[in-house]
Amino acid sequence: MKYIIKIFFFIALLTNPLLMLGEEPMTGEALFKKNCKSCHNLHQKLVGPALSGINERRDSAWVYQFVKGSQAMVEAGDATAVALFQEYNQVIMPNQTVTDDELASILDYIKNATTAKASDNPIQRPPVDWGRVTHPMKFNTLVYWIPLTIGIIGLIFMLYYMTVLYDLGRDMREGKL
Ligand code: HEC
Repeated sequence: MKYIIKIFFFIALLTNPLLMLGEEPMTGEALFKKNCKSCHNLHQKLVGPALSGINERRDSAWVYQFVKGSQAMVEAGDATAVALFQEYNQVIMPNQTVTDDELASILDYIKNATTAKASDNPIQRPPVDWGRVTHPMKFNTLVYWIPLTIGIIGLIFMLYYMTVLYDLGRDMREGKL
């Protein structure tokens, strides 16, 4: 019994670091830096246009489509895309391989950065992203909790049996059995 409990605890301890291996999603800011910053700044033109206020300037469906395939839109004759392409010296914005979720957090970051700049409030609070506070249950989580739970139940049983054995021993010593 003791050994089994020890083994369970050992497994629980061992799997603890596995939990930390579960990748946290990158923040919008980090994604922006990684994918867009080489050509875009929020408030200044670089290779591409300043992106602050993009949520007001363009329809969000248009932005998603453009980021993933700007040239296809230029070729299809989308008036805004063609105008931008001409304005930016026919530099092709490469199709971005970000997922819809990633793009959504990039756009959130741009939007928050835009409003932060526009407001005069000297005390800026970072936007709380409640969406990141909870994360879906993963296999790792189960690998951790199941042995731990079994271990704790086992421990309770062990303590219980110790009291039973103790009572038994006492009764035997006192000659009651
Ligand atoms: C290699 C440079 C480059 C990278 C990297 C890049 N862009 Fe662009 N982007 C451009 C250029 C150049 C334009 C102007 C349009 C054109 O030339 O086709 C543009 C235009 C845009 C526009 C339209 C702007 C407007 O005013 O309507 C959006 C939105 C945009 N980019 C978003 C992004 C996002 C989001 C990323 C990162 C995931 C990104 N871009 C990465 C070069 C780039």
